[in-house]
Amino acid sequence: MSTARVMSSEYMWWAKTRSHATYNLANSGLVGYPLAELPVKIEDLEINGPSYYGYEPLQRAIAEKCRVSTDCVVAANGASMGNFLALAATLEPGDEVLIEHPTYELLVSAAQYLGAEVKRFPRRFENNFQIDPRDVELAISPRTRLIVLTNLHNPSSALSDETTLRTIGAIARQTKARVLVGEIYLDALFEKTPRSAFNLGPEFIVTNSLTKVYGLSGLRCGWILADPELVQKIWRLNDLIANSPAHAAELLSCIALANLDRIRERSRELLAANHASFNRFLEERDDVRASPPAFGTISFPQLKSGKVDQLCSLLREKYETSVVPGKFFEMPDHFRVGLTCETEIFAAGIARLGKALDELSQESH
Ligand SMILES: Cc1ncc(COP(=O)(O)O)c(C=O)c1O
Repeated sequence: MSTARVMSSEYMWWAKTRSHATYNLANSGLVGYPLAELPVKIEDLEINGPSYYGYEPLQRAIAEKCRVSTDCVVAANGASMGNFLALAATLEPGDEVLIEHPTYELLVSAAQYLGAEVKRFPRRFENNFQIDPRDVELAISPRTRLIVLTNLHNPSSALSDETTLRTIGAIARQTKARVLVGEIYLDALFEKTPRSAFNLGPEFIVTNSLTKVYGLSGLRCGWILADPELVQKIWRLNDLIANSPAHAAELLSCIALANLDRIRERSRELLAANHASFNRFLEERDDVRASPPAFGTISFPQLKSGKVDQLCSLLREKYETSVVPGKFFEMPDHFRVGLTCETEIFAAGIARLGKALDELSQESH
């Protein structure tokens, strides 16, 4: 992997300019939760407020949700800023960072931008994208300062259990490295959501937000969990970049966090229905390969023959449907499907995906 300084993200550009479609199966976050469904009155909002190193009520609400103390929380502008700050606070130029492969592209490009030397450890399709800690052990070096993974995994939704995470924590301790875990999809397990990796030891740093599982991307309510000393360092680093957030969004985030149960119910129903139709789709097809996902907002099937880019073009041009090409996850024979849009639109989207796959296979015969 090159250590050249990158100044942009190909994936983000694609996501912002090329992923939109009537049948949008490219989105990993639930379709937007409407403001009108939240119990918000205009008097609840204000433009300016006491937000310095966090807005106290929001700090408390995040800490309560995560069952940690407020001095372990940095509120951030989405998990995006959370990831960037966590990487920037733990990596010096030239430091080695060990990142899962495949992964969310921004984690790699942000680390490269910061001048870190990016190394990878594999998560194999044949192993359902589970992490084998021996791969981490093989790839780590005395220069590794940070190990980075996502749980649930983006793009596959694979869940890493506590034993695996603890083993990775122990490997990191050997070289005084830390472990950054992006937990932005973890709440998609609903009542089965395991406790955060933050609880597993001082080497763990966690990022999260209300974007994906709750459909609240526009609030930009993200956060970092870290030990209080690192939290202070991150707050001071944030002064260089973001000063303080939009206060109205902080107030709305407090209201959203107070109403998370009702927001969660909508997500649970929608994902249950979409999982059922997606699993039927996978059963019926022999041209794509993926183990039927039991949870999560995304799946990462392999196209058994043919070109994913051709599938994506056909989908967009003829079927008004989008999926994420696997090349953005460095696995060009895969594509990522989001199970996140309204049930009828999702069902119509995968029917269109089926038609495009049929058409491709007829062309190749
Ligand atoms: C692993 C991971 N982290 C962070 C983000 C961005 O999250 P947010 O919208 O909270 O900034 C994404 C979005 O796809 C993601 O997959």
